[in-house]
Amino acid sequence: MKKAALITGASSGIGAATAIEFARNGYFVFLMGRDKERLQEVALKCRAGASLLSCDLTDTTALSKRLDEMLQSKIYAIEVLVNNAGIYAQHSTENGSDELWLKQFEVNMLAPVRIVRQVLPYLRKHGHGSIVNISSTLGLKPTATTAAYSATKAALINWTQSLALELGPSNIRVNCICPGIVDTPIHSFHGLPATEKNQALEGMKSLQPLGRIGTAEEIAKAAFFLGSDLSSWTTGAVLSVDGGINLA
Ligand SMILES: NC(=O)c1ccc[n+]([C@@H]2O[C@H](COP(=O)([O-])OP(=O)(O)OC[C@H]3O[C@@H](n4cnc5c(N)ncnc54)[C@H](OP(=O)(O)O)[C@@H]3O)[C@@H](O)[C@H]2O)c1
Repeated sequence: MKKAALITGASSGIGAATAIEFARNGYFVFLMGRDKERLQEVALKCRAGASLLSCDLTDTTALSKRLDEMLQSKIYAIEVLVNNAGIYAQHSTENGSDELWLKQFEVNMLAPVRIVRQVLPYLRKHGHGSIVNISSTLGLKPTATTAAYSATKAALINWTQSLALELGPSNIRVNCICPGIVDTPIHSFHGLPATEKNQALEGMKSLQPLGRIGTAEEIAKAAFFLGSDLSSWTTGAVLSVDGGINLA
């Protein structure tokens, strides 16, 4: 069977770059996301082959169905799961509604738990596997205006370590990445014309020891390292890939 990786949030930004990186290294990739057109565009860039798993992560019936379809494959062996999909809203605790909190917790934290629950019997049966969770520097060091988002990402770090302890004896590794500020559509500055974008980023420069924000490809390389056998003796790790912003 050909080795395969499941990447959530593969229609955009870090997830798309991660899917392309795994495919570049010979993995068949299962691309999960809502936007079929963008998933299709990413699939065309995955030379080792890709299959689309289009669903909203908050639709538990659809999610479970898509995962079943993938796990029933007789051609591909799922070895890697990258829980990357995420949403980000800026609000304080005072101004954040229950709805904002619940939505961010459901997509950023509960969906990875649901996916792992369903994929786990398969990974156990095959005797190995690697799970990579995409957290954030905000999960380590919050700001005043990212109350719920930061809390979801802190929870993801803690769960990564709990799961690493739980699954180590089954030879399943679990690690997480804390990206700093990465140029993707999750940020409002992403789509701005170059001069406006440079102005928007100017204020962030002093926070960046390496002097710039990151690219999705730089996070994808770290995800490939942690997902693949390159990191065969690493589990429970929390890897900051952030240009040093967590020190600033
Ligand atoms: N960019 C940064 O600076 C940064 C920093 C730290 C951490 N992160 C984390 O990195 C991860 C990827 O973010 P990104 O920057 O690449 O953002 P992005 O370009 O906005 O991508 C987010 C992805 O998540 C998917 N997604 C969101 N809600 C979904 C839902 N309900 N169901 C299914 N898929 C859903 C989107 O798919 P559809 O559009 O197809 O629905 C999209 O593919 C996130 O977990 C984010 O929190 C990003």
